[in-house]
Amino acid sequence: MSDTSPALFEPLKQGLADIERNGLRRRRRIADSACAAHMTVDGREIIGFASNDYLGLAAHETLREALAEGAQKYGAGSGGSHLLGGHSRAHAKLEDDLAAFSGGFVDQPRALYFSTGYMANLATLTTLGAVGPSGGRDTLMFCDALNHASLIDGARLSRAQIRVYPHADAEALDALLEASANEGGTKIIVTDSVFSMDGDIAPLGSLLELAERHGAWLVVDDAHGFGVLGPQGRGALAEAASRSPHLVYVGTLGKAAGVSGAFVIAHETVIEWFVQRARPYIFTTASAPAVAHAVSASLQIIGSGEGDARRAHLATLIDSTRAMLKRTRWSPVDSHTAVQPLIIGGNEETLRLAAALDEYRMWVPAIRPPTVPAGTSRLRISLSAAHSHDDLAKLDNALQTLSNRL
Ligand SMILES: Cc1ncc(COP(=O)(O)O)c(C=O)c1O
Repeated sequence: MSDTSPALFEPLKQGLADIERNGLRRRRRIADSACAAHMTVDGREIIGFASNDYLGLAAHETLREALAEGAQKYGAGSGGSHLLGGHSRAHAKLEDDLAAFSGGFVDQPRALYFSTGYMANLATLTTLGAVGPSGGRDTLMFCDALNHASLIDGARLSRAQIRVYPHADAEALDALLEASANEGGTKIIVTDSVFSMDGDIAPLGSLLELAERHGAWLVVDDAHGFGVLGPQGRGALAEAASRSPHLVYVGTLGKAAGVSGAFVIAHETVIEWFVQRARPYIFTTASAPAVAHAVSASLQIIGSGEGDARRAHLATLIDSTRAMLKRTRWSPVDSHTAVQPLIIGGNEETLRLAAALDEYRMWVPAIRPPTVPAGTSRLRISLSAAHSHDDLAKLDNALQTLSNRL
């Protein structure tokens, strides 16, 4: 017999009513076509500025073919977890490819492939400091105030003591590390490289200097930098940091790489520790080998002349967008990356603007709390090498009209 006790449902209904009243209700839209600049969503043709497909690879013919080829060779599913039968040749090859492509900043680099970035971050933060008899209870974790939710959740799930430092403030972090000089066991600094809702970049060089001076690990989540930043798109650390054993690098593969999954690169001892101990790696079914096969094909494109051409085109789109947003009456964030936020302020006003852009057949998501702090709700314009300057001209026209009207 089903239980429809009002007492059970009442708090949920109250919570949902609060979400609605505060302009925080999220609705999923349904894509009827592949992720691309021009796509069909909920049955209507739109220009999409919502994806993280920064290089425009998600619908690339070569990757579609690689996915199909991987499925022919390895089947539809992996059949098990990595430690119990599910680790395929495609996964092993991809890990070697990733370590060779982005591991230049660490000695004896080895890569570990995960099904998602969320899991890679949970694994990294719960496992890196969980050493010694206390199992990590004396680990200190120093986290940027604007870190991604998956890093926040990883820190919370670890047994470490968490110290939050003001956003991108290396001086404040230095003071916190100094104050804890005689405390704790393992120390870990944790940061996004490109902050996902602001588009700005962490001071990675300074953070690495602090990690080395204070004997800490530096965990960098390069979800929005891998494929886009650094020479050949090798990532933010390839651009910003010197070679160091203190670095633990997380990259994701569902954004610029256009497929899905994630990876950690670190010294081989760290990775072997993860294989033995990281619960989000061990206790889950390995992703389909075909996906890993497609990611290896994506790496080829990212590192090629075609990848360079896509990054160069993206850079021109970023410049145009920065100029465009300055002409509106709202507040752009000073971002030089493909994430171009326009801060509107209130939730309702942001939703109204997103709805008005939808009438122009533009999909620009409204980002509200708890993803961003209250009072800073924003449009997150996400650029892709698949966009043309004509697409931007249409967005410009819509934003200038609405800037005068709303
Ligand atoms: C900064 C950052 N880290 C990690 C993730 C999680 O990656 P994934 O989508 O592969 O789970 C995301 C977004 O999804 C992100 O923006």
